[in-house]
Amino acid sequence: MTTRYRVEYALKSHRRDQLIEWIKGLLAVPFVLHSQPTADYQEHSVKLVEVAANTHKRYAEIMRDVENLINDHIAHTNSGAAGKSKLKLLVPTVGTFFTPLMLEDAFNYQDKRRFISRRRFVAPSFNDIRLTLNTAQLMGLVRGSEIQLVTFDGDVTLYDDGASITDENPVIPRILRLLRHGRKVGIVTAAGYTDASKYYGRLKGLLDAVSSSTELNESQKNGLIILGGESNYLFRYDQTSPDLLTYVPRSEWLLEEMKQWCEDDITQLLNISEAALRQCVSNLNLPAEVLRKERAVGIIPVQGHKMHREQLEETVLVVQNTVERSEVGSRLPFCAFNGGNDVFVDIGDKSWGVRACQRYFGGIDRSKTLHVGDQFLSAGANDYKARLACTTAWIASPAETVQLLDEMAELEGEAVQESDGRLRTELVDSPLPIIQSG
Ligand code: IMP
Ligand code: MG
Repeated sequence: MTTRYRVEYALKSHRRDQLIEWIKGLLAVPFVLHSQPTADYQEHSVKLVEVAANTHKRYAEIMRDVENLINDHIAHTNSGAAGKSKLKLLVPTVGTFFTPLMLEDAFNYQDKRRFISRRRFVAPSFNDIRLTLNTAQLMGLVRGSEIQLVTFDGDVTLYDDGASITDENPVIPRILRLLRHGRKVGIVTAAGYTDASKYYGRLKGLLDAVSSSTELNESQKNGLIILGGESNYLFRYDQTSPDLLTYVPRSEWLLEEMKQWCEDDITQLLNISEAALRQCVSNLNLPAEVLRKERAVGIIPVQGHKMHREQLEETVLVVQNTVERSEVGSRLPFCAFNGGNDVFVDIGDKSWGVRACQRYFGGIDRSKTLHVGDQFLSAGANDYKARLACTTAWIASPAETVQLLDEMAELEGEAVQESDGRLRTELVDSPLPIIQSG
């Protein structure tokens, strides 16, 4: 690679998910060869029915091949074989998979919802593939093992950016369902407060619903915890507290490795981050002020101002680079990320947050844990690190989280109520509906 290309690649690659882009490239081939409109196409013609069926078959075959490559990658990782798996050679940034992904079945499922193979002008997209991967992950979890713990990011996953869970949020009955089934739920958010009342403010709708639920027993209610500041503050559900939450001292839940994080290092890392943030505010003339906390430092916009994406990303990359090059940055995990209209550097990251939840509930396995979040690009995204600790689903809005939890219920054989009141009981493996011709 030439230097210029290498730099552009490095800058771009943090904003692309290589596995998704690679699958997109594979699906583009049958799209171009079989699905694109020809001069004689007519809407609703018999020929188009055939085209869609043929395209569907070819997309599904590719998804099956990728599924097999992932199985081979898992076997390669588990056996500790030398060298790289074939998938790792094709997609160098690919990580570890804790369960198989049922990509072919998942594609059939999503194709029935999104009609991907009926499109002749728009190729299979990033979002088509992201959602297919989510479904494939759910199928891998439901069929392969068992979901014992679901962790959720806060902003954009459970509520809009900067908002709170209000009483009417449709995610509430879905989370209650998880608890009713004896599953544990952790809210693993960057939002870092030492005070239970702050979390009560943001999660009031959910906490009140758990408190007043007559369907949940005490032990099910105690299956809910909050892990704030990525991996810094643990609060457990507590029916007797006015905020319905009680702070759990670190001595009761820290992992052995986390006990090695010393206060001097923490202060030093935050000092270095703060200096880098201040430099960015000045260099880029950002309408922002610095906010220093016990375990985090960030920049937040001055009232009435917004920072643009480029400013936020530049700041994340400058700070990340500066801390990584420092000595303390190699000793202590940290997470610098773009929060949409702010930038924060937290001590620790969500991989530690999820691991702490797993440990708190008695040692739940990675293959039985699902983290749901919106930030999965490799730099400046704080849910990405959760991939080290468990399986993940990448959603783009709170509505998609609701959809994902309904999909989970459906896969587990429960009928799901549609927004119009109808029951959705469609079987996952029924074929693509026939297009009416004529
Ligand atoms: P998340 O999406 O739930 O992980 O929340 C991320 C948002 O929490 C950030 O964008 C910030 O606006 C907010 N936040 C509040 N306090 C903190 C903190 O101490 N560290 C990081 N983010 C924080
Ligand atoms: Mg988020």
